[in-house]
Amino acid sequence: MVAVAQKQIPEAGIMGILNARKDRFGTLSKAPLKYPDLFLFKIPGRTAYVIHQPEMVQHILQRNMLNYQKDQGYKVLALLLGNGLITNADNDSWRKQRKLLQPPFHRESLTNMCRIAVESVEELLKVWKTKEGAEINFTHDMAWLTIDIVCKTLFTSDVSNEQIQMVWRNLNFLNEAATKMASNPWHLPWKWPVPRYVKGRKYIAELNDMIYGIMKRRRQQSNPPNDLLQILLEARYDDGTPMSDEQIRDEVMTVFVAGHETTVNALSWTWYLLKKNPACEKKLFEENKRFAQANPTFADVAQMKYGWCVMNEAMRVYPPVPVIGRAVVTDEEVCGYHLKKNCSTIINIAGLHHHPAHWENPAQFNPERFLNFDLKGDNRFVFMPFGAGPRICIGNNFAMLEMQIINAMLSSRVEMELTSKEIEPEPLITLKPGNGVMVRIKQVEVR
Ligand code: HEM
Repeated sequence: MVAVAQKQIPEAGIMGILNARKDRFGTLSKAPLKYPDLFLFKIPGRTAYVIHQPEMVQHILQRNMLNYQKDQGYKVLALLLGNGLITNADNDSWRKQRKLLQPPFHRESLTNMCRIAVESVEELLKVWKTKEGAEINFTHDMAWLTIDIVCKTLFTSDVSNEQIQMVWRNLNFLNEAATKMASNPWHLPWKWPVPRYVKGRKYIAELNDMIYGIMKRRRQQSNPPNDLLQILLEARYDDGTPMSDEQIRDEVMTVFVAGHETTVNALSWTWYLLKKNPACEKKLFEENKRFAQANPTFADVAQMKYGWCVMNEAMRVYPPVPVIGRAVVTDEEVCGYHLKKNCSTIINIAGLHHHPAHWENPAQFNPERFLNFDLKGDNRFVFMPFGAGPRICIGNNFAMLEMQIINAMLSSRVEMELTSKEIEPEPLITLKPGNGVMVRIKQVEVR
């Protein structure tokens, strides 16, 4: 057998590290120009391979996924989510759990969510009508809207407006606290009496009380609604046993956290990009103008071809989850590169989405490029806003349907102008649009 020479992994020097501190998104998205496959990033306490080569990504997330475990960022999330689907690091119990949770997230099971999304947008439009002429933080309002939708999809009317308000406040705080901890390898232990942690623990306790309280009342109901909570309560593993209350709590929190900021960021970036590209906004309006008369339904979403392209292109340019991390379990050779045990692999989704080998003019917002783009086959590891491989986002249909409905209603019934200037992307766990996308509401059609 002929020995294949091991390939050298280029290392980002001190300048690279300083640049990355100043402009993390620019560093990630432009990395393929300098390092076509990967580079090594070393800071005290952490050595990471930043990878944007599709075959290597496929190897890590699919072919040999057992050699790559969820990294320290997920340990921080576990403080909040317990052992929910996204944080579960044990392959056997994760498989069992994924099989159980998959059915309610199939596209066809999400018709109820689409109806709820329409109702929640209607409510938002009524509020916006009173704000015509005023400037609003679009990102802030999308956060409120998507919390409203997810709470009602989970609990129907068993959740009050005050509780939705509490979920919104607590999640915003907890997301920020978790992000700060995950991005600082030297953070203080969570059990310590740090004021931010004390508040965080109190907020988690409030969310737990709400979830357990709704579950308890639900068990006493003779005619329960057929919502996501009910599906979780009635789900059975292969041996016929149900999930424990604690497991259901962890999955509900996971849906809250995994699906919230990601969707809000995706919607915010989409409208920022549409406002910067009026010809695209006009095309989206042409596709959706009929919804000024009658609201979209689940069935209509399949016809929203351009809206689908717009969402994908926005998530290509600004991936809501810019990187995903895994730790190497044992040394191995991948595509000629030697990856060492205990180091991190950072799957650079931002780099893949801007890689000049796969995209023409990658910085340009051009939804048409998705008209003939096949999401299957090898492209799964070139374009992957929802991750890839067996641990791909379970909520991807939920998110796409929800966002397409929201966009269709906004484009057909709201006139707004962008008042934010250039927005700097802030890549922490998710890719936030700075302090939010600011718009002025000009005109809103209400019913
Ligand atoms: C635009 C919106 C969203 C984006 C961009 C997104 C992105 C992602 C990504 C990249 C992963 C893979 C993480 C990894 O491999 O380490 C993931 C996993 C996951 N997402 Fe999403 N997500 C979105 C919306 C949602 C929604 C709406 C839900 C729930 C309703 C959800 C629930 C989950 C869960 C439970 C996992 C873990 C799956 C597993 O490990 O089996 N996500 N998501």
